[in-house]
Amino acid sequence: MKHLLGLRELSKEDIIKILNLAKDMKTILKSETKKTPHLQGYSVVTLFYENSTRTRTSFELAAKFMSANTTSISVQTSSVQKGESLLDTVKTLEALKTDVLIVRHSVSGVPHFIAKNCSFSVINAGDGMNEHPTQALLDMFTIRERLGTIEKLKIAIIGDILHSRVARSNIWGLSKFDNQITVFGPQTLIPPYIENFSEVASSLEEAVSGKNVVIDLRIQLERQKRGFITSKQEYYKFYGLNEDIMKYVSDNTLIMHPGPVNRGVEISSEIMQLPNSTINEQVTNGIAVRMAVLYLCTRKEGIYR
Ligand code: CP
Repeated sequence: MKHLLGLRELSKEDIIKILNLAKDMKTILKSETKKTPHLQGYSVVTLFYENSTRTRTSFELAAKFMSANTTSISVQTSSVQKGESLLDTVKTLEALKTDVLIVRHSVSGVPHFIAKNCSFSVINAGDGMNEHPTQALLDMFTIRERLGTIEKLKIAIIGDILHSRVARSNIWGLSKFDNQITVFGPQTLIPPYIENFSEVASSLEEAVSGKNVVIDLRIQLERQKRGFITSKQEYYKFYGLNEDIMKYVSDNTLIMHPGPVNRGVEISSEIMQLPNSTINEQVTNGIAVRMAVLYLCTRKEGIYR
């Protein structure tokens, strides 16, 4: 079995291998046909229990560009609505000869559970508040492409750290490369014990000053059952990337966001358009990174053995 369940369990060398292969895959994306035979004969299925635009579409395109047979299960119109359990659902997909399952679920650990109970490869497309490994890989790919390195950088992660699987995967991944990571957000959205993994800034100005990279996060309102922020307007004023805070950010600092963006809450439309904003590049790079992950998860000599 070969899976990608999280960055926590990958080595620095594993990550470099994925990023190097993604660089090759990006050249295929730029070709006229955008087609390789690498996944010919493989069945790739996406199963998303949570909404997605970028991750699901880019995984599907990546698999199609590599000649896989692909299908996408919409949980809203599947037999999940008739009460079918997660295990019965994935066992059904196994019986349907799935080779690779790409899964997103609101419960942390679901991809790990499936990997233990099924014979196909499992790729985690986001599990609860745990990890979103391909998002962090595409973030790292974008940083390396823009800055030439992913080592020894000063990186700020801003916003809803508590609920963010993107933050967790980035912290696991970037920490392996001797980067200095600083987090900042409302006190209610900073998880306990985060100081064991990163610095915690005491102001937004301090968090963004002198950084090579600022990763801004979406507020995960769907995971907030009670009031973590007073209002979206106040959040934007005190924690949003707006024109006032840009005085503290160098023109060379990468401004990143995994998307989807809440404009005027997490970041202003103007800042999203700056030359050092990589938000759309991240989306494109996501296809190349997911092509690389699909390739490695289906090779006999893959890195996950
Ligand atoms: N960044 C990300 O996971 O976006 P989607 O929810 O649109 O897939």
